[in-house]
Order: sequence, then structure tokens, then C-alpha cells
Amino acid sequence: MKPVLGIETSCDETAAAVMGADGRVLAEAVLSQLSEHRPFGGVVPEVAARAHLHYLPELVRQVLTHAGVDSAGLGGIAATAGPGLIGGLIIGTQFGKGIAIAHRLPFIAINHLEAHALSARIPGLADGGAAFPYLLLLLSGGHSQCIAVTGVGRHVRLGGTIDDAAGEAFDKVAKLLGLGWPGGPALEVLAEEGDPARFPFPRPMLRRPGCDFSFSGLKTAVAQAVARLGKNALGREQAADIAASFQRAMVDVLADRAANAARMMQNAYPNAHLMVVAGGVAANARLRSTLARAAKDSGFQMLAPPVRLCSDNAVMVAWAGIERLRAGLIDDLSLDAQPRWPLETLNDQSILA
Ligand code: KG4
Ligand code: ZN
Repeated sequence: MKPVLGIETSCDETAAAVMGADGRVLAEAVLSQLSEHRPFGGVVPEVAARAHLHYLPELVRQVLTHAGVDSAGLGGIAATAGPGLIGGLIIGTQFGKGIAIAHRLPFIAINHLEAHALSARIPGLADGGAAFPYLLLLLSGGHSQCIAVTGVGRHVRLGGTIDDAAGEAFDKVAKLLGLGWPGGPALEVLAEEGDPARFPFPRPMLRRPGCDFSFSGLKTAVAQAVARLGKNALGREQAADIAASFQRAMVDVLADRAANAARMMQNAYPNAHLMVVAGGVAANARLRSTLARAAKDSGFQMLAPPVRLCSDNAVMVAWAGIERLRAGLIDDLSLDAQPRWPLETLNDQSILA
């Protein structure tokens, strides 16, 4: 199979990558739009769409040149078609379809969540490769889910957030502490200076059956603590203690939910032993080390892809394209961008009881 071009434009990263069928990255580029969105304190969909349109053609040209492949030398075009912001999704998929039509190449519409899910299978990340089935904890700015990944296009949802996503909670608390946007990385840095036992924040859903999460009560408790202390009177030490206490509560909850998810996984798939943690929040070092311990205690091995593959990128999109091409899953050019596209709808499996 010839190399595949991956295109990612679902949120605020414009990314392109060329990957060989053996999983070798021949070229990759990610352009973050942080400077465009920072003045607004979050991603502005219209600004994102304009930036994708502006950057994508040149970025694709760059990765093809760097990879030493021309469009006609590709084996397929994989573009994120959802879920995400509709403007960016339309730009990425239409651009990808254009190349596919011009060179009569297969077009593969990629579900962004499946790209995160399959990133663990990029050769070289897991000893002997990440064989199906495995447990996925997908923790990003827009999604927080526990999923049994049983094959390409085959996913069973075990649980997920009933309100905010984990990254969203990090971002909102960071905003309360005046840390700017995106808040997760800044909050992690500040938390290192603080005392995680200073504020006894709630641990929503802890020790409840199943593996659903809820973060809005925790976020409210932090907001109340900040209000009590007076937002403007908050010194660095107090802010660091709040950040550390919040992060500890998040990590405690996620480790508890991960242990339950591992039990559910093992009941349904007794040969499963891998827990993959992906999405932007998986970059958090405290979370990675705590989840690694929780996985071990449950008889699982944790795999968190390198940080650059946890946040949004086109390498995972190209790889998902390779996996789907191999499985014979090519898409019709009439397929539209889908802002909402639950992972479970990729297959006919229903929610695990
Ligand atoms: O997967 P991602 O790059 O984009 C989405 O698909 O949403 O995730 C971005 C999210 C943001 O909410 C960001 O604050 C969070 O991941 N994040 C972190 C860290 N790095 C990024 N959260 C906690 N600790 C971090 N080190
Ligand atoms: Zn993502």
C-alpha cells in the first residue's frame, strides 16, 4: 500500500501528515491557532474555520514535499469528518475530497474519536502492538469516555461524562484562577507548587458502580472556594493550593472510574489487558502516573501515546486511514462533515449492559 495523507481540522489545530503503510511518519506538521483564539479566551468557530482555510493548502504542500511524495503517489486521503466544529470539518473534508477526485484516490472519512482510539496501534508504541480488544480512556477538551475498542470501526461505550469533559473542567478552573486559555497545561504547572490536601474538594461519582464521570459539582466547589477567598485577593500560593487540590480530586476520580472500567472490560473481554489513555488531558503527568498504577492494580498495562500524539494531530488521522483502507472501509464522496458523530454509531454494537 502507498502512503496515506492525513488531514485534521476538527477544532483549532490545522494539521497534515504523510504516513507510510508500515506506520512510519514520512512528514507531519501541526499549526496551532492559539494566538488567534487567545484574545477571546476560547476557540471561536468562525475564526478557526478561516484559519484552516488560510493554512491548510500550504501545510499539505509542505508535508508532501517533505515526504517526497506527490499527490498521485498516495494510496489514499484520510480527513477528519467529525465530530467537531462544522466550518473546519467542511474545509478539511472538501479539500481532501478535491485531491481524491483529481487523482482518483480513495477517500477515507475519519471519525476524530476513532483516530484517538487507534493511535495506540501506531507501530512502535506498544510492545508487540496494541492488539484488540483494549480499553480506551478518551479524555479531551470535548469528550470524556471509557470505550472498549474491539476492532477497526468497532467500539462499545462503557461510560462517560454526564456533564463536562475532563479538559473542559481543567479549562474552566484555570479560567477561575486567571491562568488564561487553554488552561490544562498552565494549571498542571501551577499545581506542582501547591498543597493538594489544602482544599477538600468533592470527588463526584467516587466508588459508584460503573464508569461514568461528572465534573460540574467539582468545578462549582472550586468556584465557591475562589469566591470565598476573593478572586482578586488570591495570591499565587493560594491559587497553587487550589490548582493542586482540584487536580488531585480529578485524578482520584479518574483513577477510580478507570479501575471500574477495567473490571467491566475484563468481564466482557477476559483476554483484554491494555488500558489506553488518549486525548489532550492524557498529557497530564500526575494523571499518567496515577492511571498507570490503577491499571496495574487491575491487572492491566497502561499505554499513553507520547504527548504530541495525545493532543490533536494528523498522524493519528493518517494512521486511522491506513487501518480503514486495510479493512476495506472506503467512503463515498457524498459523505458530509458530521459535527456530532458518536463513536458507537460506526458499528452496530449497542451500549454494553
Ligand atoms: O484532545 P485535545 O487536544 O483537543 C480536543 O479534542 O478537545 O484536548 C485539549 C484539552 C484542553 O481542555 C486542555 O486544557 C487539556 O486538553 N489539556 C490538559 C493538559 N494538556 C492539555 N489538561 C490537563 N493537564 C494537561 N497537561
Ligand atoms: Zn481530540
